[in-house]
Amino acid sequence: MFSIIAAVGKNNALGKNNDLIFHIKEDMDFFRKTTTGHKVVMGSRTWYSLPAKLKNRENIVVSEEIIPKADKTVSDLKDYIAKNIDTPEEIFIIGGGSIYAQFLPYAKHLYLTEVDDSPKADVFFPEFDRRNYRRKTIKHGNQGELKYTFVKYTKK
Ligand SMILES: NC(=O)c1ccc[n+]([C@@H]2O[C@H](COP(=O)([O-])OP(=O)(O)OC[C@H]3O[C@@H](n4cnc5c(N)ncnc54)[C@H](OP(=O)(O)O)[C@@H]3O)[C@@H](O)[C@H]2O)c1
Repeated sequence: MFSIIAAVGKNNALGKNNDLIFHIKEDMDFFRKTTTGHKVVMGSRTWYSLPAKLKNRENIVVSEEIIPKADKTVSDLKDYIAKNIDTPEEIFIIGGGSIYAQFLPYAKHLYLTEVDDSPKADVFFPEFDRRNYRRKTIKHGNQGELKYTFVKYTKK
């Protein structure tokens, strides 16, 4: 089973200049707690944007190239999805934009930190039809003036 996890702006903003836009401590903590012990799948641009491999998680990188320091490289994404979609294990899709877009049709859960801001961005979360999901608010939070809500969408 695939679960997407992302922090998104009101305008679906995800990132800019191959970096994160939102630096929210509680969101980083939520991300770490939620994904620790699981497989995490990311695109090569997101991989190279990280300061280091994500600890206590199997780091799977989608790329046409072999990524030596990754735990695994996936070059045939369709094959990877077909082989893993029915596993009971929760596999986290952690970005970026191109990877979210390709996994969205197959993801059972979307853990979105919905940030009450519309910053400038060059990578965006794909549009999706919220009528096809149950929406559960996990928690509201704020960092100074910046408000955000942790939401879990589950496909109906
Ligand atoms: N807000 C958030 O929660 C969040 C989370 C993660 C990332 N981000 C942001 O998102 C941005 C990066 O997103 P992005 O869309 O530019 O890049 P990305 O999705 O991280 O990586 C794109 C790369 O993945 C590989 N790839 C994608 N589809 C593939 C396929 N079907 N087969 C083989 N390889 C494939 C290609 O790598 P090769 O070119 O190596 O072949 C492609 O260049 C950054 O700004 C990052 O900070 C935000």
